[in-house]
Amino acid sequence: MSSAAPQRLYVPADSGALSVGAGQVARAIQSEAARRGLALDLIRNGSRGLYWLEPLVEVATAAGRVAYGPVRAQDVPDIFAAGFLAGRPHRLGQGLTAEIPYLAGQERLTFARMGLGDPLSLEDYRANGGLAGLERAIGLSPDQIVQELTASGLRGRGGAAFPTGIKWAKVRETAADRKYVVCNADEGDSGTFSDRMLMEGDPYCLIEGMAIAALAVGADQGYIYTRSEYPHACRTLGLAIERARGAGLLGPDVLGSGHAFELELRLGAGAYICGEETALLESLEGRPGLVRAKPPLPAVCGLFGRPTLVNNVISLASVPIILSKGAAFYRDYGVGHSHGTLPFQLAGNIRRGGLVEKAFGLTLGDLLYDYGGGSASGRPIRAVQVGGPLGAYVPESRFDVPLDYDAYTRMGAMIGHGGIVAFDDTVDMREQARFAMEFCAVESCGKCTPCRIGSTRGVEVIDQLAADPEGNLALLEELCETMTDGSLCAMGGMTPFPVLSAVRHFPEDFTAARESGDSREPV
Ligand SMILES: Cc1cc2nc3c(=O)[nH]c(=O)nc-3n(C[C@H](O)[C@H](O)[C@H](O)COP(=O)(O)O)c2cc1C
Ligand code: SF4
Repeated sequence: MSSAAPQRLYVPADSGALSVGAGQVARAIQSEAARRGLALDLIRNGSRGLYWLEPLVEVATAAGRVAYGPVRAQDVPDIFAAGFLAGRPHRLGQGLTAEIPYLAGQERLTFARMGLGDPLSLEDYRANGGLAGLERAIGLSPDQIVQELTASGLRGRGGAAFPTGIKWAKVRETAADRKYVVCNADEGDSGTFSDRMLMEGDPYCLIEGMAIAALAVGADQGYIYTRSEYPHACRTLGLAIERARGAGLLGPDVLGSGHAFELELRLGAGAYICGEETALLESLEGRPGLVRAKPPLPAVCGLFGRPTLVNNVISLASVPIILSKGAAFYRDYGVGHSHGTLPFQLAGNIRRGGLVEKAFGLTLGDLLYDYGGGSASGRPIRAVQVGGPLGAYVPESRFDVPLDYDAYTRMGAMIGHGGIVAFDDTVDMREQARFAMEFCAVESCGKCTPCRIGSTRGVEVIDQLAADPEGNLALLEELCETMTDGSLCAMGGMTPFPVLSAVRHFPEDFTAARESGDSREPV
């Protein structure tokens, strides 16, 4: 063995990276190093979010971290031979990680630590700015913490974009013998993965955000509700909660503040509706995920009938930086009433899929072309579904609209949780509209008629379009109006968004001519 200090390397243990072979790459690096008699300090970090480069191997050098990717296990002997441990050039070399344009152009606030160190090391967490928010919050009164959140302009990142400070104030001012903080980590939206990435790559950030929320609203118990399809996130969070408890970050006296806060992880079976906050609370209480009528709001009467703060992972994980750097720092990012940043998730038919955290105000075009590099197929991008399965399809003519909550509302779309799913010009928008109705029929909790029956009728009407295009389109519009106006929750209420946006922006796909097949010339 060499007597020099072990060379530090990073190979992500994020599920996205593991799914393309990061585990095999890590093992291949260990065995090649052993064969060469080299000592390595191999850290399994979170993903940098440059998914098209995964597995992304990084080497610490005097000049900074140098990246190689996408590395396959069979490439490992070759990169060793090329001198990658010294950061030397190789065909898979990407240069200094921090200078890769996809990363360098981002404004990482919530994801500032992502990929930097070992997600489970509290030392790494602290060294990279962790716990500064909680330490400051402990010195403030609960009202001051809520005021700070309100002043930051943070709005819920789970989908509805409700002002976070207002929700916190409601839970704070509601008197009760017990209050809860619940993290909505169900992340059922198509094409989204920011919650999972954060839980796997920076779990203490979520725990810190929840502890601050608990101090502010007066809760002593928290739950993270996630899905069993996220086994790596569950394992990492479980270990992080244990270590946080051991370090006094959770427990009877959070960091010596005199406040108690306990945290538990709960797994759902993966029903989309269990992401809706009241169905989630039902599921947490051990019942099927049926939506509750509102009012009362969960902030007043939530889990076990007590005031409950329900926030998304990204909302809660944005809290530590707001507290540590101050409301004004966060508020200064963004445009109009959309303050701060959003981790957009590029997915679908896109060349460079991954996570792009940027201040509100950039355009879909910026994301799709500057970051995403256009479609993976090389064909023109025709439609983009923004904001998950209840989000509208945005046509190319609107790619220049700023990603700002209000601008999107004005054009009949929503930003939601920041999921961006791209489709090229081979997409059949009638099929996409049908899929939206079918998804609603499958995932509906069944509590109200417009959604339960309306979605099934919606599939039938779309299937019968060819028989009477004009009449059935009118019927579809009327059905959508009934679902919008009469549904108890946004599942039935917003399914018309993807359906009607497809009809309005791509009418040619709903005519008989398009029925006979795609007449477009291949590019
Ligand atoms: C059908 C449906 C599914 C939802 N799924 C999620 C989800 O997976 N994650 C989430 O945070 N919010 C989801 N929401 C929104 C939640 O009901 C709620 O608004 C959110 O958890 C509040 O947190 P926030 O204010 O931090 O966004 C969903 C809503 C609906 C109607
Ligand atoms: S809209 Fe659908 S999911 Fe929501 S309560 Fe009604 S049936 Fe349930």
